[in-house]
Amino acid sequence: MPSLEEQFIALKSQAPVDFSGAVDEESMEAVRVKYVGRKGLLPELMKQLGVVPAADKPKMGRLANEAKQAIQAAFDQRKAEIEHAGAESAAGLFDATLPGRRRRIGRLHPLTLTMERVVEIFRKIGFTVAEGPEIEDDWHCFDALNTPADHPARDLQDTLYLKNGKLLRTQTSTVQIRIMEKFRPPIRIVAPGRVFRRDEVDATHSACFSQIEGLYVAENVSVADLKGTVDFFFKELLGPGVRTRFRPHFFPYTEPSFEIDFSAESLGIKGKEWLEIAGCGMVDPNVFKAVGYDAEKYTGFAFGFGIERIAMILHGIDDIRLFYQNDPRFLEQFC
Ligand code: DAH
Repeated sequence: MPSLEEQFIALKSQAPVDFSGAVDEESMEAVRVKYVGRKGLLPELMKQLGVVPAADKPKMGRLANEAKQAIQAAFDQRKAEIEHAGAESAAGLFDATLPGRRRRIGRLHPLTLTMERVVEIFRKIGFTVAEGPEIEDDWHCFDALNTPADHPARDLQDTLYLKNGKLLRTQTSTVQIRIMEKFRPPIRIVAPGRVFRRDEVDATHSACFSQIEGLYVAENVSVADLKGTVDFFFKELLGPGVRTRFRPHFFPYTEPSFEIDFSAESLGIKGKEWLEIAGCGMVDPNVFKAVGYDAEKYTGFAFGFGIERIAMILHGIDDIRLFYQNDPRFLEQFC
């Protein structure tokens, strides 16, 4: 019969061997019970500690402790190995000659791809990219954009306000103001970015979404320039057969203002002749006044497109929430 000391040492060295033979949760549990279950090898040995001569107690205690730790370590290590290596290699089917496991490589998000495509089109005709902050103040989001304090867009129901009195921008039109405050005309920018609204989330609404804003200010800019730019953009994006039309609308910061529709039928979108896609107009003189521009000298146009909407049309996506759920099965479909 081996001594107690030898038995502790044997336990310590045997445990890793036994655990390394386990291949799944079930066999791990069997080995665990064998060693530390109620009637397991370790508890049985521990019982004998009671009858050890006083002089040997510290040493035996230490050995018992080491055995216990070794069992725990062997258990933890094997558990991690099984989790990481997957059932195949754990079952002993590991074949070193097989090619390695392919790592899943990340890719750009469909909204990023759409944004890049849109920006690229505007760069072709001389627009540069501008940026502005997502945390904004009333001035840049509303007042300077000719949107007075009693305008419904400023309502608590629509805009997310922060405790410090700032707000999350509801539109990228803020960047128009930031750029005009800093630079003199001529200005020709697009401003891509995220915007935030207190919208009820459903298939077509998200509390956070993306827009791209455009602004062109110089002398003698006309609606014809706006129309030509918009036309060019949609032909580049959707193909030469696409037609656009302007419908009169109202935005506080443009006068006149339009909604832009494009011909859905030419894209093969059934049941609809025109799809509404964006807003635009000629910059309101009050906006020029807010940034200290001479409204007699300069004219300009502005537009704002929703990127999700463009991506949904391009790819036939019917639910905006898909963009934010991070489901690889969805995300993998775009490149
Ligand atoms: N800011 C508008 C929105 O969020 C979009 C827009 C409309 C931007 C007309 C413009 C514009 O620059 O002229 O719905």
